[in-house]
Amino acid sequence: MEPLSVNTQTLVEQDALQIVHTYAKADLDFVQGQGSWLITQDGTRYLDFVSGIAVNALGHCHPAILQAIEAQAKTFLHLSNLYPNAPQIALALRMLELTGLSTQGGKAFFCNSGTEANEAAIKFARKYFDRTGSPERVEMVTFLGSFHGRTFGSLAATGQDSLKQGFGPMPQGFIHVPWNDVAALKAVVGPHTCAIMLEPIAAEGGIMKASAEFVAAINALKAEFGCLVIADEIQTGLGRCGSLEGCKRYGIQADLSTWAKALGGGLPLGMVLMTKAIAEIMKPGDHGTTFGGNPLACKVGEAVLQEITAAGFLDGVAARSSQLQAGLQALADKYSWLGELRGDGLLLGIVTKKPVADLVVACRAQKLLVHRAGADVLRLLPPLNISAEDVDDALARIDRACASMEK
Ligand SMILES: Cc1ncc(COP(=O)(O)O)c(C=O)c1O
Repeated sequence: MEPLSVNTQTLVEQDALQIVHTYAKADLDFVQGQGSWLITQDGTRYLDFVSGIAVNALGHCHPAILQAIEAQAKTFLHLSNLYPNAPQIALALRMLELTGLSTQGGKAFFCNSGTEANEAAIKFARKYFDRTGSPERVEMVTFLGSFHGRTFGSLAATGQDSLKQGFGPMPQGFIHVPWNDVAALKAVVGPHTCAIMLEPIAAEGGIMKASAEFVAAINALKAEFGCLVIADEIQTGLGRCGSLEGCKRYGIQADLSTWAKALGGGLPLGMVLMTKAIAEIMKPGDHGTTFGGNPLACKVGEAVLQEITAAGFLDGVAARSSQLQAGLQALADKYSWLGELRGDGLLLGIVTKKPVADLVVACRAQKLLVHRAGADVLRLLPPLNISAEDVDDALARIDRACASMEK
């Protein structure tokens, strides 16, 4: 067989030969990231409104991240969880402080990804009731359209049957009710409920906010039955929806929260935060992972947090969000097939009556990277430090993409 050459075959052609086909990949060969931009081998610049699906909150090659990587790489990259490591402790402390858990004795558990964080939270919730004398409390209530990950526990929690087909049997005890349906929720929550698990904004499912009535019902059910609430902040958290915590922004009283994506600044990192009551019952051996809380990823996490919590950073997110929403509304007024605006902060979407996959491709033809959510929503996830100029640029590109679809 002839050796493969980048010059004769695109990366996608080579990818198809070597990598199992579980993703539908775009035919793009990026070689460099630069702030809000990605650059291909031939020098074409793409404006990045995907941000690695909400991972690259500070854009590409942010100096604080580069500095953190260099500093940590000179000490050690990995220790294992047989020994305490300082970057892990520092990041945990900062997150506990920022979420107000440190003064209440809350604690953190580290892992490597979003699905692992949810997997851990589900296990901790069940273990909590097992150790506190209610082993029968195993039912997890989650929502139709939700996305919590691809490993078995998180997949069972996910409210999308299409993702589960052919992988059965699923772990037992997961009940899915329609999103924002208070009556349906009340019908299933009771003394047997272990936890209600939700995304503050159901992102993958179509960027659907939790209504105020829905949140009030969740909090009331928690108070009435003593079940736990797990907030999946993997996409909404760390400033993406405009606040550090989506659950606090919308009033959700969480006992456990799960974090990943932006936390590692591009390195794989996940985290579960929990109240003192849950942390106290956990014992050595209950759960673990070799790489969880890897020092390099945690050091980068600290740098990410420092940027996101710097004075004015979240004001910038709010300003860019308003700018983007105003521009999207103007486009919805111009193109009759564009509809409702969804989301908050810089987790924004717009409903399209034309096929969303076609709109994503049309945007790509305008050198703008965007993603979809649900069946009919164009999802925009720019870096949180995006400039006003780049937001205007993106809006002009979406306008041209929409115009191209009118022909
Ligand atoms: C809300 C939410 N939860 C969980 C996950 C799973 O995270 P990961 O892909 O890191 O396993 C995602 C990923 O998109 C997500 O958006």
